[in-house]
Amino acid sequence: MSKPKVLVTRPLFPEARAILDETFDVEYWKRPERIDRAELLERVTDKDALVCLLTEKVDEELLSAATKLRVAATVSVGYDNIDVAACTRHKVIAANTPGVLDETTADFAWTLLMAVSRRLIEGDAWMRTGAWPGWDLDQLLGSDVFGKTLGIVGFGRIGQRVARRAQGFQMRVLYCNTKRVPLDVERELAAEFASMDEVLERSDFVTLHVPLRPATRHLISTDALGKMKRTGYLINTSRGPVVDESALATALEQKRIAGAALDVFEREPQVLPALLGRKDVVLAPHIGSATIETRTKMAVMAATNAAALFQGHPPPNALNASELDLREPS
Ligand code: DGY
Repeated sequence: MSKPKVLVTRPLFPEARAILDETFDVEYWKRPERIDRAELLERVTDKDALVCLLTEKVDEELLSAATKLRVAATVSVGYDNIDVAACTRHKVIAANTPGVLDETTADFAWTLLMAVSRRLIEGDAWMRTGAWPGWDLDQLLGSDVFGKTLGIVGFGRIGQRVARRAQGFQMRVLYCNTKRVPLDVERELAAEFASMDEVLERSDFVTLHVPLRPATRHLISTDALGKMKRTGYLINTSRGPVVDESALATALEQKRIAGAALDVFEREPQVLPALLGRKDVVLAPHIGSATIETRTKMAVMAATNAAALFQGHPPPNALNASELDLREPS
């Protein structure tokens, strides 16, 4: 019997390939450049499954072209690249990779927080010029982290892990979230529920951990930035469009806030030119989950999501399981 066909838009890792190769007749996109839209639309037409990255859109156009498609699995926890409602209309299961990158991304939010507050990137650049004259009292003065207030916008799995790490720095932790978390979680993480305005106004560091949805697009606007402390820092490891980048550049230019550290951008891979030359901004190329351990787990999870259906099970991380009435076979 012929195997179902899958298109995989990156070669992934051997552990994930082993799962796919066992179940599918696999077509990997192996060229170094990203698959372009026309190529993606053409190659997906005869496929039963798609394993894609967050840079590929699974939308009405793709779903209409891929009439045989039954599952679309993204190698990411964020799934703003997938129109889940359109998938449901086309009876395509959409799946993502939740859980496996929480600790790694929380580590990276802290990496950015420390880098921007202690001016590490400026220091590194200075050292590489060979012009450092040696220790002096007032060189590259940053801001303390220990004992300060951390504001967490979005208190899901990643936000909570960021909070846990703040305990080692004896910080006060404020959080805002669509829903207040149970009291035992608040107690364990020593986190105080607050309004978004309070978080912005009272925090020395504001770190973003919300998904990209219509309601969170430009959540950090001119108005929001205006509520932050002038000595405050903004950290973004969520999605670029959560921050209005022009408003951020203006706020930095006007010294409305002290600095920002960004792993994600409004129009990736472009970065707003006004941010590029700024020393008070740390820029990272969307590497929050980029460790070999975590990216391997993500790829394995996406491969498992794609293969499960063809092995007789619903994908473990289906986003539209209830809409499509998916159940384990009895
Ligand atoms: C995700 O998974 O959504 C991250 O942005 C990339 O790891």
